[in-house]
Amino acid sequence: MKFGIKNRKFFSKVTAIIFVLGLFLGVVPVAYGQTFANVNIVFSDQGKSLNVSGRIVSNTLLVPYQALVENLGGQSQYESLARRLTITKGDTQITITAGSRNATLNGTRVNMPAAPVIHNNQLLVPLRFVAENLDQLVLWNNATRTATLREKPVAAVKKTGGVVNIYTSRHYGVEPVFAEFTKETGITVRFTTGGDALLRERIKAEGKNTPADVYMTVDAGNLWLAAQDGLLQPISSAVLNRNIPAELRDSQNRYFGLTKRVRTIMYHPARVTPAELATLRTYADLADPKWNGRLILRPGTHVYNQSLVANLIASYGEARAERIVNGWMANKPQLIDSDTRILETLAAGGGDVAITNHYYLGRLLQNNPAFPIKVIWADQGPNEAGVHANISGAGITAHAANRENAIILLEWLSSPRGQRLFADSNHEFPANPAVAPHSIIAGFGKFRENPVAKSEFGRLQADAVKLIDRAGFK
Ligand SMILES: [Fe+2]
Repeated sequence: MKFGIKNRKFFSKVTAIIFVLGLFLGVVPVAYGQTFANVNIVFSDQGKSLNVSGRIVSNTLLVPYQALVENLGGQSQYESLARRLTITKGDTQITITAGSRNATLNGTRVNMPAAPVIHNNQLLVPLRFVAENLDQLVLWNNATRTATLREKPVAAVKKTGGVVNIYTSRHYGVEPVFAEFTKETGITVRFTTGGDALLRERIKAEGKNTPADVYMTVDAGNLWLAAQDGLLQPISSAVLNRNIPAELRDSQNRYFGLTKRVRTIMYHPARVTPAELATLRTYADLADPKWNGRLILRPGTHVYNQSLVANLIASYGEARAERIVNGWMANKPQLIDSDTRILETLAAGGGDVAITNHYYLGRLLQNNPAFPIKVIWADQGPNEAGVHANISGAGITAHAANRENAIILLEWLSSPRGQRLFADSNHEFPANPAVAPHSIIAGFGKFRENPVAKSEFGRLQADAVKLIDRAGFK
């Protein structure tokens, strides 16, 4: 009897030790050899969470790979015969084989804490191993059985302090973004705002003594001109290459798109009949005579329209682009040199259709959810090239004194945290595909983007300006 009690005490002590150990290791051992686990995965940078059925092997949580990789912005390829999974994200490549603890990380053999298993025709992979190698911090909460994933802050990788100086023509909401960057990295941001061309002239005139480490601006045309003028240096950064898709950065990595902005058709639903709306699908449709006296445009001298026309030239050829612009001019558009005022004029009934950037509508809707103007994504038909999307972005100056800090800034801005703050502050689409757009602009619906490389807007700018001049689009 005594013996039995002692033994029971002994066993309950062992159970308690196993339990505490389990807390440390991130699992509660329900019974010896237990394996199944229903867990939550929170992707905190993406604002998403999932409930998955995983498995616990050697105190390691294994989860189905698809949702994990996809939500972290990676790609996966599973070869069922070889039972081998390849995960890629930017320059990172991980190869994992079912039943083996050996994995390959960027060509180097590494050991995983447990071997992946196949369950119900699904490959389950070690969550922490995969997530950490995709630059995530993983936090396990045993009580709620939740793994919270978040991109490693840049400061955890490099900590330098000091300063970074920015010349920026982008001024909407940059202060809170830079303040957060300073909080995370200890790097002080000093910034000067001004016009795009003026800031380029200033960097040129200052030469080797320029205080500017970063040139930040809107429109691929501006970034391209800065690169052409030799004001920017190529940057080799695995983080930037991973976070920013190739089509949104310079082929020589002298500048990087940080947000996307779509220039498209806007209309007042009370002033356009359903029949008219049915024929309002493309930039070319605005050349139809039914819009005579009803169209509002920004002047052709603005870089936003120069890039739009350059994109039309690249997609449809110069003759067709010219017919489109001539058609707009034949409709005697009202020219207003501010996208916000164009939308306000439309709302007030001073016109019926227009072309503006999408985020101006996002901003007006943020302030007034009842703002009446609606958006149409242009050129979505099977024979059309897709809607014109431009970028805002930045590059590091050729003579940057704080080059390292400038790289850290760009890397941080491209990370999910930086992207969230930077894109949302102006209702733009994040350049990093792993980051979801703000709900207001997500509500505008999905679109097919014109695939022409953004650098073409710069390369064709002179042709676009000449076409605009010939059309009398002043
Ligand atoms: Fe703008």
